[in-house]
Amino acid sequence: MIVRILIFFGFAFALSLFLTLNFFTVNAMTGNIEAGKIRYAKNCVNCHGPAGMGLASYPKISGLEIAYIIDRLETYRAGIEIGPNSALMIMMAQPLSDVEIANLAAYLNAQNTK
Ligand code: HEC
Repeated sequence: MIVRILIFFGFAFALSLFLTLNFFTVNAMTGNIEAGKIRYAKNCVNCHGPAGMGLASYPKISGLEIAYIIDRLETYRAGIEIGPNSALMIMMAQPLSDVEIANLAAYLNAQNTK
């Protein structure tokens, strides 16, 4: 019973943290495409391919909505799983700053790969 209560509060806390982060980014930031491109080339490209076009089992992430990309990266950064391979993305998103996330979102949104 105690464990259940603790899990519930842990979840509520994670959710409120996530909502707060969301609120600030949506209100405060417009990313820089050039800076996003440089950050993307550092390691994102290894899995998601050139310009986010997708590679093998790694999803295509080019051309997605800015708000969607920010939301995903913040969710991973908070350690919350989305799909079956979230562990990989959680590891990648944890070092990202709010500014880096905004820049990456601006860059990826501007890419048009088929
Ligand atoms: C080690 C391989 C790997 C690296 C490096 C990587 N990703 Fe990912 N990414 C994945 C996988 C796998 C998924 C799907 C995860 C899941 O199942 O939830 C994913 C999902 C995503 C998604 C969500 C896609 C969607 O359609 O919801 C975004 C956005 C994303 N990655 C951006 C990035 C960015 C930006 C970087 C660089 C900071 C990065 N990734 C680095 C493997 C990687």
